[in-house]
Parts: sequence; C-alpha cells; structure tokens
Amino acid sequence: MKVLLTGGAGYIGSHTCVELILAGHTPVIADNFDNSCPEAIRRVEEITGVNVKSYELDVCDSEAVERMFSENDFDAVIHFAGLKAVGESCAIPLRYYRNNIDSTLTLLEAMKKHGVANFVFSSSATVYGVPERVPLVEGMPTGCTNPYGWTKLMNEQILTDAASADAGLSVVLLRYFNPIGAHESGRIGENPNGIPNNLMPYITQVAAGKLSRLGVFGNDYPTPDGTGVRDYIHVVDLAKAHVKALDYAASHKGTEVFNIGTGTGYSVLDIVNAFMRVNDLEIPYDIKPRRPGDIAECYADPSKAEKILGWKAEKTLEDMCRDSWNWQSHNKNGYDPD
Ligand code: WQD
Repeated sequence: MKVLLTGGAGYIGSHTCVELILAGHTPVIADNFDNSCPEAIRRVEEITGVNVKSYELDVCDSEAVERMFSENDFDAVIHFAGLKAVGESCAIPLRYYRNNIDSTLTLLEAMKKHGVANFVFSSSATVYGVPERVPLVEGMPTGCTNPYGWTKLMNEQILTDAASADAGLSVVLLRYFNPIGAHESGRIGENPNGIPNNLMPYITQVAAGKLSRLGVFGNDYPTPDGTGVRDYIHVVDLAKAHVKALDYAASHKGTEVFNIGTGTGYSVLDIVNAFMRVNDLEIPYDIKPRRPGDIAECYADPSKAEKILGWKAEKTLEDMCRDSWNWQSHNKNGYDPD
C-alpha cells in the first residue's frame, strides 16, 4: 500500500517507516520538522536501502495537503504528527488544540475528497486518565488530566464519528503505552528537544554524562518499590503494530481501538536497575517529590491486539535498555553532528 506518514521523521514515525518498507509498503512522509529533522529520513533510507519520498509541510495547511494528495494515490494515512509535551500543553493549550485537532480534520477532508479509506491514529494510554484499576482494557472509561491527552481523546471521537458517517472509512486507534528503545542499528532513535521529560531519554543522557543525576519522582506510591509503574514498549514492536493495524484497516470497516503495550508493568527503579545491569553503567539518582499529574500504575491488557491484529510485543526490557543506550552512545547529539 502507498501510505502517508504524517510526522514520519519523528521517533515513532521513523521506526514505523522502516517496518512498512520491510513489509513491502511504500511510505511517503509529510513532516514540518518542528520537532524532528530530515536526517532521520536519510537514516531510514540508509537502513532500508530504499528512497523515501517526503514533503516538508504542516498537516494543518489544507492547500499543501491538497496538493500532496493530488500528486499521490494514497491507500492509507498513519497520523503521527502532533505536539506531544504534557507540561507544555498545560501552558499553551490553544496551540495544542488548534494543531492536533486541525491536522486530523484536514487529513479527513483530503481523504474524503480523494477516496482514501484507511486511517491509523497515534493515540495514547493517557486517554484513560487516572485509571480505576490496572491492567487497562479498551472498554474502560476515558478522561484526561491535561490538554495533550484531551487532544488525543477528541481525535479518537472525531475519527469514530467520521467512520460512522462514512461507510467507506476504516479507522484504527492505537493507544500507545510508554515507547522506549531504538532501532537495533543505532541509526534512528528518540531525539528530544532540550532536557528530556521522559524517563528513558533522561537515563541515557545521565549515562552519557550530559546530565548529572536522575531524579526519581516519588517513592511512596502504592507499588512494590514505591516508584511509578509503567508499561514500557520497544519502539520497534510498536512500529510493527502499525503494519498490522494497516492490514486490519484495509480489510475491515468502522473503528477499532487497541492498547499497544506489553502487559507488564515495570517501576522506575526496575528500569534504572535493568539499564545499569545490561549496559554495565552507573546511573546516580536522587528520590524527589512526586511529579504533579503522575499516576501510580499504568499498564495494558494487550490481549485484544493479539487476538484481532495478531500482534504481540516480542522484545524484552533488556532489549529496550540495550538499544536505547546503543542509540544514545553512538549519537551523542541525536541527529546533530558531534
Ligand atoms: C515514566 C515514569 C515518572 C522522568 C508521558 C505522557 C504520555 C506519553 C509518554 C507522549 C513515571 C518517572 C520520569 C524522570 C522519573 N506522552 N520519571 N524521573 O509520564 O508515563 O507518560 O510520556 O507523547 O502521554 O504522560 O512517561 O517517561 O515521563 O515517566 O522518575 O526524570 O518515570 O514519574 O513514573 P509518562 P515518563
């Protein structure tokens, strides 16, 4: 299939681009390089030996999107592009709503006009808000604690409504848990702007000597060691879920939602200890107060994805820790030259 990847130069987009090519699809990237760079696409080409067509554009720009759809006969869209920093979304909510909602509407309108029937959306476990219990099952109540999360949930609703009004449209909503790791080549990986907010990039930057110590946000949660528990998933497993979602969308109509996680929760200290053991490195850390907005535990029941998509995470915590460090240690400044 010819597949438009919005945000295809980003962390999850670039890994998905590789897996789509390996599965015989033809990805086309649209990215405004706001939080990503063209070098990631060059590296995807290097890994796969395939040239990837790309457009530098903003997916909210309906004229540019229209031109791109006129030039390509897309079979499907995978929509990764979006603003994604939780804290920033609380400071500038309107920018988040404008950008993350407008992009989806623009794509849906172009798809309708050009008869493109399949849409896979990057959603997030954040749509479960403060969960009543774990593991999380797709039918559980949703509700968010920050504007970023609301944009994900609103997009889920918009896509669901669009598919119920249009018998020709297929929508697959993928609720990602916590993606970490990198392609095993060490050529593509996560490249956060400034000081990372997320745990694994913070750990790898401490290991690289770019940051001095990790702060562990709270050790008094009702979890086995008191630190927060999450469902960390290797980004290559996550990328492969998109290939399965695409196949599913192409052979079913309507909307379906899937948790994309491993089903196993690890604490912050589990991650720190595994990282130190696998890579034979020290990660100095201090216990800090809880981070506002954090929940104690979040992990998936991923059985629906296994049953219906035929997808299951295969990589281990050790793989995630090894590949995260392999990427960071070989790309000290991410995609910027050393
Ligand atoms: C994981 C655990 C922290 C940093 C967020 C968003 C979510 C998604 C992914 C995407 C928690 C602890 C973290 C640090 C720490 N967003 N931690 N020290 O919060 O589960 O999910 O990112 O685009 O929508 O909410 O991920 O990696 O930030 O935190 O102790 O320096 O690590 O408290 O328990 P989170 P995270």
